[in-house]
Amino acid sequence: MSIRPVRKAVFPVAGLGTRFLPATKAMPKEMLTVVDKPLIQYAVEEALAAGIEQIIFVTGRGKGALEDHFDVSYELEATMRARGKSMAAIDGIRQKPGSPVYVRQQEPLGLGHAVWCAREIVGDEPFAVLLPDELMVGSPNFMAQMVSAYQRVGGNVIGALEVSDSETDKYGIISPGAQDGALVEVTALVEKPARGTAPSNLMIPGRYILQPEVMGVLEGQGAGAGGEIQLTDAMARLIGRQPFHGCTFSGQRFDCGDKAGYVQANIALALARDDIGPAVRAFARRLLD
Ligand code: G1P
Repeated sequence: MSIRPVRKAVFPVAGLGTRFLPATKAMPKEMLTVVDKPLIQYAVEEALAAGIEQIIFVTGRGKGALEDHFDVSYELEATMRARGKSMAAIDGIRQKPGSPVYVRQQEPLGLGHAVWCAREIVGDEPFAVLLPDELMVGSPNFMAQMVSAYQRVGGNVIGALEVSDSETDKYGIISPGAQDGALVEVTALVEKPARGTAPSNLMIPGRYILQPEVMGVLEGQGAGAGGEIQLTDAMARLIGRQPFHGCTFSGQRFDCGDKAGYVQANIALALARDDIGPAVRAFARRLLD
């Protein structure tokens, strides 16, 4: 079996962000910052550090700030340069010409539909998908750990993390088979199973390496859980036809699609910083006392 490299990553960023209103009324949820960096930049940096070359955004109306963020900011850069200010904070955000590529998801029909909207850009090669509201902190990062695993087993490799019983109805859930180190065989998948019916506590944390055949499965696929076209349902149909593994992560996960998770991410990353960590720690101690 020849294992083809993962060169492209799809970032579904068309979601309306209703869970974060009013913050996201006029601003993309992916631009919410953890300390001083937008969520989307964490996800893009994770992909690039894992060896991804082509960034693909599946975007939508009202998401222009995302395009501007990865572009040249002429006035800002010229003014900073003229004033002799350090550009370190914005260095490297702009990608090479031709990347990112933007495609539009015209209607909010679900994650599976969003990924399918990138089919012409993905073409006939394996690709990664990263959901930016899942913030992963680790070294090597999650996608890099998944790429290493993929290079051994090929096929489809998706993130697999444990959650508590009370949370399994919020996520895609894996039926696990044989385990081998960080990898577990995936024998079935179900999106947001009703409380008490989950086949395990292993959830899919928004990181995927998929074979291009998933696009063909998504073509014409009907709505699933929540009335949306689900990526989980399409992946489930590849099981048995292609190798399919879950990959655990040694690192930290923050569900920034959830307000408590988002605040936790800000606290944890602020405490870990050399510049503001001491001040935040001292304040947090006083507050908790
Ligand atoms: C999506 C996926 C789900 C996954 C989750 C991770 O759900 O459909 O399988 O577990 O992201 O955050 P959403 O959060 O968009 O409802």
